[in-house]
Amino acid sequence: MNKDRKVAVLVGSLRKESLNRKMAKALIAMAPAPLKLEIVEIGQLPLYNQDYEANPPSEVLAFKQRIQESDAVLFVTPEYNRSVPGLLKNAIDVGSRPYGKSAWEGKPAAVVSVSPGVIGAFGANQALRQSFVFLNMPALQQPEAYIGGAAKLFDDKGELISDSTREFLGKFLQAFAQWIERIAAK
Ligand SMILES: Cc1cc2nc3c(=O)[nH]c(=O)nc-3n(C[C@H](O)[C@H](O)[C@H](O)COP(=O)(O)O)c2cc1C
Repeated sequence: MNKDRKVAVLVGSLRKESLNRKMAKALIAMAPAPLKLEIVEIGQLPLYNQDYEANPPSEVLAFKQRIQESDAVLFVTPEYNRSVPGLLKNAIDVGSRPYGKSAWEGKPAAVVSVSPGVIGAFGANQALRQSFVFLNMPALQQPEAYIGGAAKLFDDKGELISDSTREFLGKFLQAFAQWIERIAAK
């Protein structure tokens, strides 16, 4: 039996009724062993400012520690203007500095992008991958998870009601679990 793999889940929306947060909760509930998914909040982080690098705020230190303690990172994000929401990009930037002390270094990553629109936040999903290259985060390539039409996927209680989406996400999580083990074995 593999040891637990802690996965930090970052949600790129602060909205109370966020479809992405509903999706993150659905993923947490269905994650297979050895994955242990947990949301790491990012709304409390200050806007990145190089001036505070010498003496970072406690929120920044706590956030970086949570990421460093994780075995992998799962990004669940909407698309804003065909790219990554500023909230999530800020968290990435905050976690990446000071230079040489990035919390992201070597962490396996995966992306689920979620939109009520038809192209499943493809632009945000791809833009995130551009950052992964520089951050040295080995990213799961397949299956890609562009979840479109997301307003119809959840009931009033926020439960995922689409069987086909659930089936797809199950395969996605299995692939991510295998990917994490592959990277850990290196
Ligand atoms: C500033 C802003 C820009 C947006 N740009 C896009 C976009 O480029 N592509 C898209 O599919 N949806 C776009 N949307 C709509 C979001 O996909 C939609 O609001 C979605 O529900 C946000 O995710 P959430 O439900 O997790 O908050 C945008 C919304 C906002 C507020």
